[in-house]
Amino acid sequence: MIKFINTTKRYGNTYALNNVSFDIEMGEFVFFVGASGAGKSSIMKLIYREEVATSGTVLVGRVDISQLKPDQVPKLRRRMGIVFQDFKLLPGQTVFDNVAYVLRALGVGPTETRKRVLGALKVVGLIDKVDAFVEELSGGEQQRVGIARAIVNGPSLVIADEPTGNLDPTNSMEIMNLLEQINQRGTTILISTHNHQIVNQMRKRVITMQNGELIRDVHQGVYE
Ligand SMILES: Nc1ncnc2c1ncn2[C@@H]1O[C@H](COP(=O)(O)OP(=O)(O)OP(=O)(O)O)[C@@H](O)[C@H]1O
Ligand SMILES: [Mg+2]
Repeated sequence: MIKFINTTKRYGNTYALNNVSFDIEMGEFVFFVGASGAGKSSIMKLIYREEVATSGTVLVGRVDISQLKPDQVPKLRRRMGIVFQDFKLLPGQTVFDNVAYVLRALGVGPTETRKRVLGALKVVGLIDKVDAFVEELSGGEQQRVGIARAIVNGPSLVIADEPTGNLDPTNSMEIMNLLEQINQRGTTILISTHNHQIVNQMRKRVITMQNGELIRDVHQGVYE
């Protein structure tokens, strides 16, 4: 489903990614780990085409997304849900409106929007907060809204860059369990994290980055 072939991303003289290759199948759950600056976010940004590779190939499905024209990028992103460390919710708006935003932008009608938003909020356990303003929620709840927003359009892939970076251990574990549940329904999940404890507890595929290079790729792995 996602394949990097000798992919390099350079910023000036800095190699954010240096000749990285890996292959992720549909339905996998993968952690990307490594020190700050190792290249984790760079991998994710190439997948959702926030950045373009300097050389090498980035395949998403059968499409080499380096070749996409700018007007084809929205269509690519519609197949993905993206979760951010700082949540990136719309301030001053309700939980409902935050999750509905994507669907409204796609022209989905109000009845269908309501159905899908409530469905996504049910998955993350936030139905009772549907009319709350996002500022009224705890950090863990805000990230659950972020996840509801990511899954509301039924993506085949969810990308989460440090989704628990701003959360305490209990909320972090809850978010990871939620992502695991979503994975069990068939969605491919990619997560970058610094959290050793969670990675070691969950025993998923672990891809370790160091200075822009992929140094380890282990199934049922740990964060060494
Ligand atoms: N827009 C940019 N301009 C210049 N250098 C960049 C840019 N984005 C990333 N880099 C550099 O690329 C390297 C990899 O960065 P990246 O953000 O992928 O690391 P990371 O593993 O996500 O780190 P962290 O754990 O701190 O989030 C770093 O040396 C970083 O400084
Ligand atoms: Mg990062």
